[in-house]
Amino acid sequence: MLLSLRIIITPLYVLLAGVQAEFITDNCKLISQSKSEQNALHLLEPLTNQTFTTEGKEKDFSYIFQVCGDAGGIKDAGLVQQDKKGGKLVRIGNYTNTRAIRGSDWVLLFYEGGEKYDSHCSQEARRAMIMISCSTSTTNAFSVVLEDNQKQQDCYYLFELDSNAVCPVIPSKVSAGSIFLIIVFCCLAVYLTGGFLYQRLVVGAKGVEQFPNYTFWSEIGNLSADGCDFVCRSRGNREERPTYRGVATEPLGEEQEERDDHLLPM
Ligand SMILES: *[C@@H]1O[C@H](CO)[C@@H](O)[C@H](O)[C@H]1NC(C)=O
Ligand SMILES: *[C@@H]1O[C@H](CO)[C@@H](O)[C@H](O)[C@H]1NC(C)=O
Repeated sequence: MLLSLRIIITPLYVLLAGVQAEFITDNCKLISQSKSEQNALHLLEPLTNQTFTTEGKEKDFSYIFQVCGDAGGIKDAGLVQQDKKGGKLVRIGNYTNTRAIRGSDWVLLFYEGGEKYDSHCSQEARRAMIMISCSTSTTNAFSVVLEDNQKQQDCYYLFELDSNAVCPVIPSKVSAGSIFLIIVFCCLAVYLTGGFLYQRLVVGAKGVEQFPNYTFWSEIGNLSADGCDFVCRSRGNREERPTYRGVATEPLGEEQEERDDHLLPM
C-alpha cells in the first residue's frame, strides 16, 4: 500500500523538480558534457551560495571555495588562494572548467584552468580537486589536504568537504506502530471479505446475516449497549421509577372502576 503510494508520488516529485527554477549548479560549465556529471553537480545544489574557507597547513595562505559561484569575488573562480600577508588572490580553478564524478556517498569536483604556475609543474595551469564526502553532521567541514606541485605535470590542490548533501537517500523506514496498524487493517479486510464470501456462498446467508459471525458481533453489540446503559444512566432515576409506577397505577385503576360504576344503568 505504502509502496504503491511512493510509486505514484515519486514521478510527481520529479516533475515538480523539473518545473522548479533552474539550478545554480548549472553555472558550472562541464569540460565534457555528460548526463552523469550533470547529475553529480545537481547533487551539490544545497551547497551553493555559501563560502567555505580554510587555512593552509603553514597558515601562510587561506583558501576560499564556492560551489559554482565566484569565490573571493573573482570572476569564474570557484577556488582561490589568498596570501595572508599581502592579501593577494590567486585563481586555483574555474567553475567554468569543471568535472564532477559521483560515487555512492561522495562527489569529486574538479576546478581547472587556474593561474599558471610560475616555475613548478612545467608552468601548467593550477587546478583544484574537492572531495565532497557524506557526513551526517549538519555543519559542513572544509579543509585543505595537500598541494601536490613537486612534479613535472598533473599538479593539483586537494581539498575535502564533509557534507550531508551527498549522502545516499535512505528509503524512509515505516515505524513499528504503523506496521502494526497496517497488519491489523489487512487482517480485518481479509476477515470481512473472506467471512462475507463464506456466509454468502457456502452458508447461503442473506441480508445482514452475510456479515461474518453476525450473531456473535450483535451479541457483543448488545452486551456493550447494556454495559453502557448500566454505567451511563444515573442511579437515582433507576430507583425512583418502580415506586412511581406502583403508586400511580393502583389508584388509577380504582378510579376507573368507580367511573365505570357510574356509567352502569341503575
Ligand atoms: C543565491 O545567490 C544568487 C546571486 O547572488 C541570488 O540571486 C539567489 O537568490 C541566491 N539564492 C539563494 C537561495 O539564496
Ligand atoms: C578561467 O576564467 C578566467 C576568467 O573568466 C579566464 O580568463 C580564463 O581563461 C579561464 N581559464 C580557462 C582555462 O578557461
